[in-house]
Amino acid sequence: MRTRLATGLLTVLMLGCGGDQAEESPGASESDQPPPAAQTLASVGASDLELPDGVTAAMLAQGKTIFEGPGTCFACHGVTGEGTPIAPNLTDDAWLNVDGSYEQLVEIIDTGVQETKEFPGLMMPRGGSGMSDEDLTAVAAYVWSLSRPSG
Ligand code: HEC
Repeated sequence: MRTRLATGLLTVLMLGCGGDQAEESPGASESDQPPPAAQTLASVGASDLELPDGVTAAMLAQGKTIFEGPGTCFACHGVTGEGTPIAPNLTDDAWLNVDGSYEQLVEIIDTGVQETKEFPGLMMPRGGSGMSDEDLTAVAAYVWSLSRPSG
């Protein structure tokens, strides 16, 4: 069920992707009923998050799948993103190469880290996975959410 929901939202996301056009999240403060997306948010432990522009709940769910699977991120950062001896913790608010903003996360995951600040080795562009732009923004959104308290 969750997969179907996420897929539907992903379609919306792809249409809405690619620009700064003013997309104020509709009904963020007015709606009494949690939108279906809130269930997806809850499923990744992020029910009270205010998402950055261009980020949807479906992206977080998709990003989690990528992080823990084909994106290979888990291999160095750990399945939970809490870090290993070869890659930093992504769930706290301490950052080495970025300020933790969604934009910077997209960028650093895209380029990787050739000259690391603290850890041995390096990170290949997109983790070396060759993932699509769409998967890149989804996994960046997921990483963004990891360090935010989930209310
Ligand atoms: C080969 C191991 C490896 C893989 C695979 C990998 N990373 Fe990294 N990652 C690193 C290293 C090493 C750093 C840099 C640490 C340093 O600067 O000391 C890093 C840094 C980062 C940072 C910046 C953290 C900071 O504090 O500045 C983010 C965000 C990140 N990785 C996300 C990802 C994501 C998302 C994926 C999957 C697409 C991924 N990484 C795959 C090893 C890896």
